[in-house]
Amino acid sequence: MPVVSTKEILQDAFARRYGVGAFNIVNDLTLEAVVAAAVALRAPLIIQTSVKTVKTAGIDTIYALFRAVAERADVPIALHLDHCPDRAVLSACLKRGWNSVLFDGSQLPSVEECKRQTIEVVAEARTYGADVEGEIEGIKGVEDGVGSDDAADIYSLETAVDFVRSTGVDIFAPAIGNAHGVYKSEPVLNAQRVSDIVAQIPLPICLHGGTGLSSAQFDDLIARGCAKVNISTALKIAFMRANKDFFQEKPTNTDPPTLLKFVGERVKQMAMEHIRMFHSDGKAA
Ligand code: 13P
Repeated sequence: MPVVSTKEILQDAFARRYGVGAFNIVNDLTLEAVVAAAVALRAPLIIQTSVKTVKTAGIDTIYALFRAVAERADVPIALHLDHCPDRAVLSACLKRGWNSVLFDGSQLPSVEECKRQTIEVVAEARTYGADVEGEIEGIKGVEDGVGSDDAADIYSLETAVDFVRSTGVDIFAPAIGNAHGVYKSEPVLNAQRVSDIVAQIPLPICLHGGTGLSSAQFDDLIARGCAKVNISTALKIAFMRANKDFFQEKPTNTDPPTLLKFVGERVKQMAMEHIRMFHSDGKAA
């Protein structure tokens, strides 16, 4: 199946109220593992790259890997750039063929400036047929060097809705008490904010900070319109723990393919668990 647009994937999820896992991959192994999970469960999928991953792996390498793996898969898959405050990186990814980008203007001096730049990003993305996720409030927690551990200012419903309307973003990521990384205490989520935004302007909402939320929290938020569910830390934990476990179990092993298979299988299982929790299994056309 060809690579499809993020918007197309999310429109179906939003209409039928299931969540599409948007997994932050870090290399070829994690990319292949997450895609294998989606294929095994017949689930649509979004592959995400942080700016750090783009810079570490190289934009051409990561894109070539994505195309090679996604084109072999028979489920819809899109490539998305996660939190990007850097307009040069964002432009380079759009030019290279990313299906969508999150312009993270949450650290700009004002919401007006964030709006102004997001309008420019949307215009630029449209020239490539790409989609844009918008955000005005920083999601708590530092992810791959982007973000802050301080809680962000939360804007009014009117400001959020005005931002979505005037920028024309395709996906919106509000702060609702969610945070990147491992939750240090039970998160108190403002799920009603998702319903309030969707009631005024029906568009797919992105749930950031997916790692550590419960099935009940996912069910509730997805039913309210969180069609895109971001998972990064859970993948990193699965990857790191698998490496550690492998060497604990087989300290004398010197065969890299055996290690790669073991780690890939663990990452695949992690992705399958999340896909099932989001109810996107069986939703690929
Ligand atoms: P977690 O790292 O908490 O899974 O959050 C992922 C995310 O929201 C990426 O933008």
